[in-house]
Amino acid sequence: MLSRQVADKLQQKETPFYFYDLGLLERTLETLTGEAAKYGYTIHYAIKANCDPRVIETIRRYGVGIDCASGNEVRCAIEAGFDPQKVVYAGVGKRDKEIRYAVEQGIFCINCESLEEMHVIDRIAAEAGRKVTVGVRVNPDIDPKTNHCIDTGQADCKFGISYEEVQAKASEILSLEHLDVKGIHLHIGSQIRNFGVYNELCDKVNAIVENLVSLGFKFEFVDVGGGLGINYDCPEAEPIPDFARVFELVNSNLKVGGRPVHFEFGRSIVGECGELITRVLYNKTTATGRKLLIIDASMTELIRPMLYGAYHNIENITSASEQNDKYTVVGTACESTDVFDENITLPITRRGDILTVKSAGAYGMSMASRYNQHDLPGAVYSDEL
Ligand SMILES: Cc1ncc(COP(=O)(O)O)c(C=O)c1O
Repeated sequence: MLSRQVADKLQQKETPFYFYDLGLLERTLETLTGEAAKYGYTIHYAIKANCDPRVIETIRRYGVGIDCASGNEVRCAIEAGFDPQKVVYAGVGKRDKEIRYAVEQGIFCINCESLEEMHVIDRIAAEAGRKVTVGVRVNPDIDPKTNHCIDTGQADCKFGISYEEVQAKASEILSLEHLDVKGIHLHIGSQIRNFGVYNELCDKVNAIVENLVSLGFKFEFVDVGGGLGINYDCPEAEPIPDFARVFELVNSNLKVGGRPVHFEFGRSIVGECGELITRVLYNKTTATGRKLLIIDASMTELIRPMLYGAYHNIENITSASEQNDKYTVVGTACESTDVFDENITLPITRRGDILTVKSAGAYGMSMASRYNQHDLPGAVYSDEL
């Protein structure tokens, strides 16, 4: 929750913008890296969650690596000073020029998502006169028990190579001369709040690794992806996700012959440190009696509610009213789906009041667009206030 002092200062600024609590980000990173060190785990930050320069500079100072989903994300990481040997790159549709760039930069590992892609990387590596370290992203067919829009490890989805295909094509994969298949990679989805899913994931990984090793794979590391969720309902109750619990579970259940274990966390690192600060433009009541608050942000600043039906807690940080009312909070974009939340209870809210849309540090700014020629939102950092 923003202090009165911070809220007063934010109120002076032109909205909408993202407010980043860099102190909370640092405390999150201290917890994460401290807990990971207990088991020797390697952490990559999934830069797709937020590539704000100050956010990634803070993350870099904690010695964390980077997980990328495009050539430009690889470029962003390297230009921000991350060691290419700490950069991994996954993605179902890597363009040739993106692969070429990653190969030239000598990144730690390219995680492959189809057999055809492996052949393309092999050819590009041959042209560059290099042998490239790759991981096989296996689709383990696990239900991560999260919002269906953000699950990535079920059999029918586009991510990874089916386990059956990896087994059937093991010798073809291993024959690719310019690939060094050192890694096995899985990422089953995002916003995982059910910790039992990690047990299921470990059981599957144990079986997959054992089997693929018997088919000739010589994995040197196991990357179990990211996915740890945050508490969107009540961020104040849990500002730092329970990394300790995930690591304990993985440490007790993952049996991969002592191979180094990597994680790729995005949301759990940056989700809670960012809030979208927006001003109420207008009040209006529909003919059906719905009370709308029209705010100066929209799906162009934060698309998660409209794209996935995702929930963000919204608070009025300036109203002094002791009376409440029910409101539907809508944005400025020319789309009927541009609704942040419906029928929420807020203190009586008037034009000019400031609302904060909480837990917006992940997949907020990084998904912002310029639809309707909106300006991209700016950023305000806690140490500037
Ligand atoms: C391959 C991969 N790794 C890691 C992540 C990060 O996931 P999260 O932000 O849920 O930790 C994603 C997110 O889409 C991903 O696709």
